[in-house]
Amino acid sequence: MRTLRFILSEYRANFRWLVIGLSALILGTLCQAAIPIFIKLAVDSASPTGVPIETGLSAWLAHTLMPWRPNDNEAFVAVALGTAGGIAAVMGVFTFLKRYYLVRISRRSEYALKKQLYGSMQNLPADYYNTTRSGAIMSLLTSDIENVRMMIGPAVMYLGGTVVMFPAAMSVMLSLNVTLTLLAMVPLVGLTLSTIWFNPRVRRYTTKGQEDLAELSARAQENFAGARVVKAFSREAFEVAELDRLGRRYLHNKIGAARNQSMFQASIWGFSGLGVLIILYFGALEISRGNFSAGDLAAFMMYNLNLYWPMIALGWVTMLFVRAEASLKRLHDLGDIAPDVSRVPGGAPAATIAGEIAFRGVSHQYTPQGPLVLRDISFVVPAGKTLAIVGPVGCGKSTVANLLLRLYPVTQGEILVDGKPIQTYDALALRGHIGYVPQDSFLFSDTIANNIALGLDPQDPQRDTLVRQSAQAAEFEPEIATLPKGYDTMLGERGVNLSGGQKQRAAIARALARKPAILVLDDCLSAIDTDTEERILRNLKQYSQSITTVIIAQRVSSVQHADEILVLDEGRIVQRGTDAQLRKSGGLYADMARRQELAAELT
Ligand SMILES: Nc1ncnc2c1ncn2[C@@H]1O[C@H](COP(=O)(O)OP(=O)(O)OP(=O)(O)O)[C@@H](O)[C@H]1O
Ligand SMILES: [Mg+2]
Repeated sequence: MRTLRFILSEYRANFRWLVIGLSALILGTLCQAAIPIFIKLAVDSASPTGVPIETGLSAWLAHTLMPWRPNDNEAFVAVALGTAGGIAAVMGVFTFLKRYYLVRISRRSEYALKKQLYGSMQNLPADYYNTTRSGAIMSLLTSDIENVRMMIGPAVMYLGGTVVMFPAAMSVMLSLNVTLTLLAMVPLVGLTLSTIWFNPRVRRYTTKGQEDLAELSARAQENFAGARVVKAFSREAFEVAELDRLGRRYLHNKIGAARNQSMFQASIWGFSGLGVLIILYFGALEISRGNFSAGDLAAFMMYNLNLYWPMIALGWVTMLFVRAEASLKRLHDLGDIAPDVSRVPGGAPAATIAGEIAFRGVSHQYTPQGPLVLRDISFVVPAGKTLAIVGPVGCGKSTVANLLLRLYPVTQGEILVDGKPIQTYDALALRGHIGYVPQDSFLFSDTIANNIALGLDPQDPQRDTLVRQSAQAAEFEPEIATLPKGYDTMLGERGVNLSGGQKQRAAIARALARKPAILVLDDCLSAIDTDTEERILRNLKQYSQSITTVIIAQRVSSVQHADEILVLDEGRIVQRGTDAQLRKSGGLYADMARRQELAAELT
């Protein structure tokens, strides 16, 4: 039902092209159904015994379409065949119009659907991407939309052809000879049964094969993306075996599809051959009884061919509809997912913000059934000050950053920026004021300069200067200078050709380049040696005097200069204070500091 409504809405949007396409379809098919009549007339007037039948639908058509009928037999043949040729030429024009406009509608729908889908995908909550494999998302954009397109265009085109051709051919055939028409239908019934038998089998194998292929490509893609890990763990043989297992399943299903397809093809030839035999045998009998002419026989042979293809197409069309229905359901399900709350427009896009951050009794769980990963977190970072968060792995440090950026809605409590709850700001505008260095510094396969300028307006005349300044502040410039093309060096996928520390510094430069009011550094100094870290922190102090900074770290050395340090454990703040205070009071922080300094002395 939803499928039908969707098709209708697409057609309404392209109503003019639909009218042209459908008219061409109807007229073209009628032309195709009319041609055998003139072949019949030509054959009959050429055969010595033939008497053109002067009654019935075919006779009426012949009279209407061939007003000039010479008495001379040879001239008559020429005129009849000429008329058939003319109709065939007109049919060619209609075929073009039909295909072009119906396919055009389907391509336009495809474009609109992809654009709409890609747009709404940007608004999906971060959670959707956490729980859905990128392969599945890609297949929504590719094969699901292609299935819908096939339904809007080709499926409707072939269905329309069948719907017009069948009654048209049948009425001419019935007007020529009722008995023979009924006899000629017998193999068509056989063909229909064979379509009903083979089509679902072919479809089942094909669907399975498609799923195998999707799994195969997802597996291969992950394997290539993680090539370094695969090599390091000597997993090559295992990966090859795994792909082989999937490949075998794919092979099995594809061969199953081919077997059923071949049998179906064979049955098509068998039944159409049977049709020819029936027409020839009973046609000859009818001719000998004087109920049928040689021309009628020729026309029947042509109609026989004309009817087979539409019957076969019917099975194919059914398959396309079933597939499209499943795809549409998947696409609609996506529409049912509530959009990312932070992308719902609204709120004031503050032009500048001072950068004061406050958490008030914030507790958070990622899923309603999940554990509380933050419990009653409260703190205030005055504008321009630095807050550090330390704590063991998994204690909820990154979650604090995620919530501040509104990547997830807060379960309980309130987060304020400049004294106003963050949900009263326009999320895009608010994020525009925050420079964020994520824990895994994801880089795009683009040039270094473009990666650093990611958050900048491409037209910004200051762009190059900002890129350089921020690379300097991130202590990245000296190394960029040693790269073959400097700032224009292309990065591999996810920045593979940079070292871990270089990637982190590129990400820091990227966050600084947009001159944010708030800077969030999520454990982004971990792969950088302590000397460079020291320099970066010193640069940041100069560069970011007015920037409110939240720095998340594992190392005490990264946080010792912060105005306040929070020590988290299992989602709770267990200690807070400055470096000096925390060292004195003992506990988790003092332990960490002692252990890390001891380790540093030993190396
Ligand atoms: N998207 C998510 N969905 C569900 N649970 C999550 C999600 N992200 C993190 N968690 C869980 O929340 C808890 C806190 O994670 P978080 O990333 O905040 O820890 P962290 O302190 O940053 O750790 P690390 O030092 O290793 O980076 C963990 O137990 C983690 O399993
Ligand atoms: Mg983290």
